[in-house]
Parts: sequence; C-alpha cells; structure tokens
Amino acid sequence: MQTENVFVFDHPLIQHKISLLRDKNTGTKDFRTLVKELAMLMVYEVTKDLELVETEIETPIAKTKTKVLSDKKISLVPILRAGLGMVDGVTSLLPNARVGHIGLYRHPETHEPVEYYCKLPADVAESTVIVLEPMFATGGSLTATIDILENRYGCKDIRLVCLIAAKPGVERVMKDHPNIKLYCAALDEKLNEHAYIVPGLGDAGDRIFGTK
Ligand code: URA
Repeated sequence: MQTENVFVFDHPLIQHKISLLRDKNTGTKDFRTLVKELAMLMVYEVTKDLELVETEIETPIAKTKTKVLSDKKISLVPILRAGLGMVDGVTSLLPNARVGHIGLYRHPETHEPVEYYCKLPADVAESTVIVLEPMFATGGSLTATIDILENRYGCKDIRLVCLIAAKPGVERVMKDHPNIKLYCAALDEKLNEHAYIVPGLGDAGDRIFGTK
C-alpha cells in the first residue's frame, strides 16, 4: 500500500465518534450529528498546511504583525448524496469555502459510475479542493471524481476526506493518483460481495437521511 499520502486519524475523539457511528443502534439524529462533528474535527488536520500571509492589525493595546490565511480559495466537493452530510461540519470551520457538487450513480449492469450532475466553482482549478465522501469503498466514484477534477477542470491540489476507507479501494486509487492525499478516520480490511465496507457502518446515505 502506498501510505505516504494516506493519513488515518488516531485522535481519541475521532476514534470514539467513529465507534458510535459504526454502531447499528445509532439512530438518524445522532448519526447526522456525528458525521458533522467528525468532518469538523478532520478538516482541522486536513488544512494544517494551508498558506498564511503576514498582515498588520491593531489590538486594543498595540499594533502587531500577525498571520491570516492567504487568498487561495478552498472548494468543497461533496459527492452526492452522502457527502452532503459532511458539508456543515467543514463550513463551520471554513465559512468562506465554495461548495461544488458531483452526482454519480452506479450503472445497474456495468457497475461503472455514471455522472448525472456536476456544478463546480468557476475557479476550482486554482483552489484547494476538499472532496467529501464518507465511504471510500471500491473507489469507483472517487476515481470518477478525480478524473473530472483533474482532467476536465485542471485541479492540482486535491484532498479526499473519507470517514471510513477500505484497503482494496485505497490501494488501487492511491497507486493511480500518487499526488492526491487521503484523510480518513478508519481503514477497514475488506468489502463484502455487495461492495459494502466490512465492518464499515452500512449505507452512509441511508443512515444520514433516514431512508431505510
Ligand atoms: N457506500 C456506503 O454507504 N457504505 C459502504 O459500505 C460502501 C459504500
């Protein structure tokens, strides 16, 4: 496994919340809250290398030089629909981030991802792109998303934020895209015959939106 750009968060708060999230007895309300909180905790680390610029401000006591984020834009790209559950947590820390959306469904016969929606910020190519997808399973939809971002829009700085990733998918996608960084809260061993992550947490979209 190419691990240099794969970051698994072992922070106790993150591990605790992931355990609650995995539990089948956690209901929709708590599940939603946990996804939001996890996204917020994770983005703190995902953005730790953002560029700062020096500025001068005046405190009530004196003038001082200090640092603020540079003008480089940040674009969040939730993959519909489960990625939407992570947006509020991230925007609570990055209130000026733009939000683009990519919608993909799995073709019932070929099982390949098919794009049905794509609306991205105009200057996405120059921005730091944070892709939000709670479950990194086979990597099919993430590969299609990377393809759209890199080849159609020319994005260079792409960061994937996933709550749970599965080793087989991660190995394949990260080998093909060595420049992309993956941040996750857990790296599970395998997928079952329906391409669900084992042990995983079930269907993230259904659990966020209460559709099952
Ligand atoms: N999508 C999910 O929601 N869960 C999985 O385990 C795999 C893909």
